[in-house]
Amino acid sequence: MGSEQLSAVGVGAAPEGGPFFTLAEVAKRSSSREAWLVIHGRVYDVGRFLEEHPGGEEVLLEQAGKDATESFEDVGHSTDAREMLKEYFIGEVHPCDRKNEGSKVRSKCFVSSFWSTWLISIFGALVIGLMYRYYMLDGKS
Ligand code: HEM
Repeated sequence: MGSEQLSAVGVGAAPEGGPFFTLAEVAKRSSSREAWLVIHGRVYDVGRFLEEHPGGEEVLLEQAGKDATESFEDVGHSTDAREMLKEYFIGEVHPCDRKNEGSKVRSKCFVSSFWSTWLISIFGALVIGLMYRYYMLDGKS
């Protein structure tokens, strides 16, 4: 599931060429082995950078699985540090999970999640209802 399925809502492919990740997917990658974080809507895998980070691995682990934009900016990282981001870039936050995304995209996300959640349940209930009717009528004849 995840990026492939969500991309099917019709909001297009990631412009950077990387896959889309939901914030829920990013949140899962926050163990001692894996550390993904979000900075300015982009997803970074900093797992192999933990020991090399001049600011220490502790701060990165604290931000793992989360949107670290604010803490990254608060530190006032140098241009070199910003350049380094490219090395750890793995994809983008899915448009449905972006706070600053336009209302057009957000409404598409809403419609898509509405249908995937409710349509299956409604269809299932209809099938069960029809089967029930069929067996009841069959029993009477
Ligand atoms: C992939 C993401 C990150 C990269 C590539 C990165 C890179 C660097 C680099 C190169 C430095 C040395 C100083 C500089 O050049 O600015 C640094 C320092 C530091 N970083 Fe990061 N960093 C990242 C994420 C973060 C995050 C999320 C935090 C969260 C608080 C953080 C906190 C710090 C701190 C506290 C320092 C030490 C600043 C100092 O001693 O003056 N970094 N980082």
